[in-house]
Amino acid sequence: MASQLFATKSIDELHEQESSGNQLRRALTATQLTLLGIGGIIGTGIFVLTGVAAAQHAGPALALSFILAGIGCTFAGLCYAEFASMIPVSGSAYSYSYATLGEGIAWFIGWNLVLEYLFAVATVSVGWSAYAVSLLEQLHIHIPAALSNAPFGPGADELHIVRTGAILNLPAMAIVAAISAICYIGIKQSAAFNSVIVAIKVTVIVLFIVFGLSYIDTANWHPFIPPNTGVSGAFGWDGLVRASGIIFFAYIGFDAISTAAQEAKNPQRDMPIGMLASLVICTILYVAVALVLTGMVNYRELDVAAPVALAIDKHAQLHWLGIPVKLGAVCGITSVMLVMTIAQARIFFAMARDGLLPPVFGRVHPKFRTPSTGTIVTGVSAMIIGGLFPVKLLGEVVSIGTLAAFVTVCIGILVLRRTRPDLPRPFRTPWPWFTCIAGALVCGYMMYSLGVATWWRLGIWTVIGVLVYVLYGYQHSKLRAGVVTAAAA
Ligand code: ALA
Repeated sequence: MASQLFATKSIDELHEQESSGNQLRRALTATQLTLLGIGGIIGTGIFVLTGVAAAQHAGPALALSFILAGIGCTFAGLCYAEFASMIPVSGSAYSYSYATLGEGIAWFIGWNLVLEYLFAVATVSVGWSAYAVSLLEQLHIHIPAALSNAPFGPGADELHIVRTGAILNLPAMAIVAAISAICYIGIKQSAAFNSVIVAIKVTVIVLFIVFGLSYIDTANWHPFIPPNTGVSGAFGWDGLVRASGIIFFAYIGFDAISTAAQEAKNPQRDMPIGMLASLVICTILYVAVALVLTGMVNYRELDVAAPVALAIDKHAQLHWLGIPVKLGAVCGITSVMLVMTIAQARIFFAMARDGLLPPVFGRVHPKFRTPSTGTIVTGVSAMIIGGLFPVKLLGEVVSIGTLAAFVTVCIGILVLRRTRPDLPRPFRTPWPWFTCIAGALVCGYMMYSLGVATWWRLGIWTVIGVLVYVLYGYQHSKLRAGVVTAAAA
């Protein structure tokens, strides 16, 4: 079994498989891919998790945490871009690793991508709920806390899950249902809808930065890196890295572009452009927001569900900005869910096509030509998870799963440079030895910083994944059954 776990799929076969059979519609340009990236990136991370990360872990040094996470993502993004341009097929890092590192590792990555996208849809829906409830409150519509909060959360030891007294997070569940319906109908409508929302959220963030600038009190930035309290992850360098692991969530989404390869008009050229452009734009915006936010309000006060709204409410002259910013956050977070739902359904699609998941996950809707069953499964699962758990717990789990996939992608690029130097690479990662190793190290360091409880949750998820693989994927793999050609040894 061990040697079979390392069998790789022929890249030529991957291309062929891509251009026959269940064709998805090729409609996305480089600009739309960049917008898809920004649509997936800016959301709950910047609007919600910044508060917890600053108040509990980094203080004003949150800006540095964003830079550290941005560096890790850039290295990983360059590796993703090489993979995506070389193997422009749907399924993202899952498909790339299947062609390079073997089925076992492909399954590991695919399973972690499910943790990334499916759980991200749920996480983001919880952030959406917080801003929507606060917006409705401002419009004098009150949603009871018991119906807009998670019934379960981490206990004092962070490890055990306890009841919180709330019943369900209904707004979170409702938004997931609405987004899934849009994704079910089709990629074209979804991309157009996404472009409008991206314009709104970027405008709102720029407004916050520009108008917030004059309300910065530099006293709030001293000390810029608050000393460690003696508790692991609470301020100091340790806290700064822990915060970068948490707000790493804010960057997740640029890699979702690679999952749409099959729907891109010119994937070789446009996917690297889309990924890197969206990453650079978002890093600049994030660092600016972190500086303005921690300058406007003392970091200790930021431990709230809607920190950006809090910063505005603190300054009477900025009250006019409150409703537009909350509305923008709600719209922005909505577009993240859209991108993540699209991405998750396509990961399921790719895994089912290879026989690692039941064929129903690979079914394409005859009229809409979208992976319809994958979309429904994603929607229903995310609704349940988003309705039951709080944002920080879910966000950390998503971060660690994604980081694990990133580390593997960085290593994969190096392996492939040695084993398949012949493959055409329309985009080549610069200084691969440095970029790939640095990417794996920075992302690995952020994983390490995420704490024992999150590692346990990753462990449990991995065990479930191994069981699904052994009981289903291994038995039905098309590569092992010889239906799909293996790469020449
Ligand atoms: N990056 C996305 C967000 O922050 C997942 O919501």
